[in-house]
Amino acid sequence: MGPGSHVRRQKQSEISNRLTLLQTVNILVTGGAGFIGSNLLHYWTSRYPEDSVTCLDLLTYAGHMDSIKELVDSGRIRFIRGDIRDGKAVASAMEGMDAVIHLAAESHVDRSIASPHDFLTTNVMGTMVLLEEARRRDLKRFHHVSTDEVFGSLPLETEEKFTERSPYAPNSPYAASKASSDHLVRAYSSTYGIRSTVTNCGNNYGPRQHPEKLIPRCLSLLLTGGKAPVYGSGRNVRDWIYVEDHCSAIDAVLHRGREGGTYLVSGGFELSNIELVRRMVAMLGLPRERIEFVADRPGHDLRYALDDSRLRGELGWKPSWSFEDGLQSTVRWYRENAGWWRPFTGAVR
Ligand SMILES: NC(=O)c1ccc[n+]([C@@H]2O[C@H](COP(=O)([O-])OP(=O)(O)OC[C@H]3O[C@@H](n4cnc5c(N)ncnc54)[C@H](O)[C@@H]3O)[C@@H](O)[C@H]2O)c1
Repeated sequence: MGPGSHVRRQKQSEISNRLTLLQTVNILVTGGAGFIGSNLLHYWTSRYPEDSVTCLDLLTYAGHMDSIKELVDSGRIRFIRGDIRDGKAVASAMEGMDAVIHLAAESHVDRSIASPHDFLTTNVMGTMVLLEEARRRDLKRFHHVSTDEVFGSLPLETEEKFTERSPYAPNSPYAASKASSDHLVRAYSSTYGIRSTVTNCGNNYGPRQHPEKLIPRCLSLLLTGGKAPVYGSGRNVRDWIYVEDHCSAIDAVLHRGREGGTYLVSGGFELSNIELVRRMVAMLGLPRERIEFVADRPGHDLRYALDDSRLRGELGWKPSWSFEDGLQSTVRWYRENAGWWRPFTGAVR
């Protein structure tokens, strides 16, 4: 079989994928009460109001009903409180589904360092339970949402970026558990023919993110008279994407991505942590004395950067938000929604 037939097969699979998924009406979103999941549910229900969307979420400390209350109350989504590690709950939630978008996870690196247990059971075993159920059904698509942290760390002084072919080299228990879940999705696709796709995305920011994460943590502290904490020297660089752009990338991959395909997702904007915090302080009109340096995180990855030319080239996706606009919008949201984040700040200060 020559290279031409491979391209033809790829084209046919893209076309059939588009045709079958245009009919998609029943979607299960796991982890929809979390940061990215809730933004995805808002995005999806306004873009595809004809789809029938169900959210399965355990409502751990990171899941907030307030983030999706209006969608549940208005009947735009159905909500099931349940654990992805529980086979019975998963079987019942997956009943009649055409597609699954899997976001449920333990997601905070610092917590994974302090206590890895739930990271392994939820991120690895929970993904396995979902895949086992997917195996028993004729799902059109299982989309797994993952992170760039599976690839480890890049040196600071380089232009090098991760690609879909970069070797996995996770450095934290969180990253190791996500890497393991990616491998499981790939293995279930090869072994059992599950129609899967995977996205590995950079650092998201935007509304409804728990104040344990860098941007909301700094904003909630700065807005309540405190100082913004920066790990170590603050030179660590992250590849930032506004959460709505991540949602549109998931949309593109779910509807048009190649079966079995992996796509990196980047906002195309790298920034050091110290520069990021300086920008937030400036946006709030505060002096630089409101920044404090704190002890570094063990095993702190230096730099993440993603080459997402496959996603842009194959699917024509690109981010819509500039970093400046995204950060302004995020700062505004945290200013206007103290009622959402204030209850959680006690636990992180
Ligand atoms: N935040 C980022 O920058 C980022 C970047 C790339 C990829 N990701 C991935 O995207 C996904 C969502 O990340 P997030 O930042 O929104 O996380 P989050 O911590 O804000 O939300 C996770 C959600 O999963 C739910 N959950 C946790 N354990 C569960 C279980 N056992 N059963 C059912 N639900 C459970 C929580 O209640 C919560 O609603 C994760 O898989 C994460 O690895 C995140």
